[in-house]
Amino acid sequence: MTSKEKIDLQRLPRHIAIIMDGNGRWAQEQGQDRLYGHFHGVESVRNIVEGCAELNVEYLTLYAFSTENWDRPEPEVTGLMELLVETIRKEVPILNRNNIRLHVIGDMSMLPDYAKQALSEALEMTAANTGLNLVMALSYSSRWELVNAVKRIARDVKEGKVDPDAIGQDTLQNYLATSGFPDPELMIRTSGEYRISNFLLYQLAYAELYFTSTRWPDFRKEHLYEAIIDYQGRERRFGKTGRQLQEEVDANA
Ligand code: IPE
Ligand code: IPE
Ligand code: MG
Repeated sequence: MTSKEKIDLQRLPRHIAIIMDGNGRWAQEQGQDRLYGHFHGVESVRNIVEGCAELNVEYLTLYAFSTENWDRPEPEVTGLMELLVETIRKEVPILNRNNIRLHVIGDMSMLPDYAKQALSEALEMTAANTGLNLVMALSYSSRWELVNAVKRIARDVKEGKVDPDAIGQDTLQNYLATSGFPDPELMIRTSGEYRISNFLLYQLAYAELYFTSTRWPDFRKEHLYEAIIDYQGRERRFGKTGRQLQEEVDANA
């Protein structure tokens, strides 16, 4: 039985989020420049997008560039930005062929003009697709997102559009960059780091976290399947007891 066959297709996560980490170390371990790692990371992106589309996962969010990553040395930032934009531009026909819709979350005001232009074209050209939703987190950080949400809520309260007493979790969700997307059930981080690095702090409240030492440029569908199988072996209790969950299963049987 291959690992793909071990996946229970009835219990797939609707939304998988991935912190694609380890490109720089992967390259340096081979005596190469960090950008060489980012370049090879694109092959993993293609492979994992294809893997998710084949399984009919509904949402895949990829953390590609954080607001903190702007502080890296200028040649790496420029090289990475050009690679990301060039890749997105080149991949649009493939996304369309596979019915994949592209979304972007992040602080777009930080992006150079050529990047904004290429992204808005790609968003428009894939907007009618109804298969996998591919969400690129680009110039994204969760604290940026939350501060931005608070500002917009405050503005709407001031203008009388929102009643402060009526603000609930749904209201906040609506002001996040991910509004309209379900929360990820599974979050994967590659490269052996055990942290969240400012990624989807609110949305990951009840996500199952999966960490692997595999560097992102080596990550392939097989690794994705392993992560999903691991996820499917966990008991998601959402604060309840294991016994309560069992009683719910028995009541529905
Ligand atoms: C992930 O790889 C890609 C980005 C953060 C843009 P890194 O560039 O962080 O690689 P490491 O973690 O330094 O190996
Ligand atoms: C997180 O990776 C951001 C992305 C993968 C885009 P980093 O490499 O920037 O995270 P830290 O600095 O190790 O926490
Ligand atoms: Mg890193």
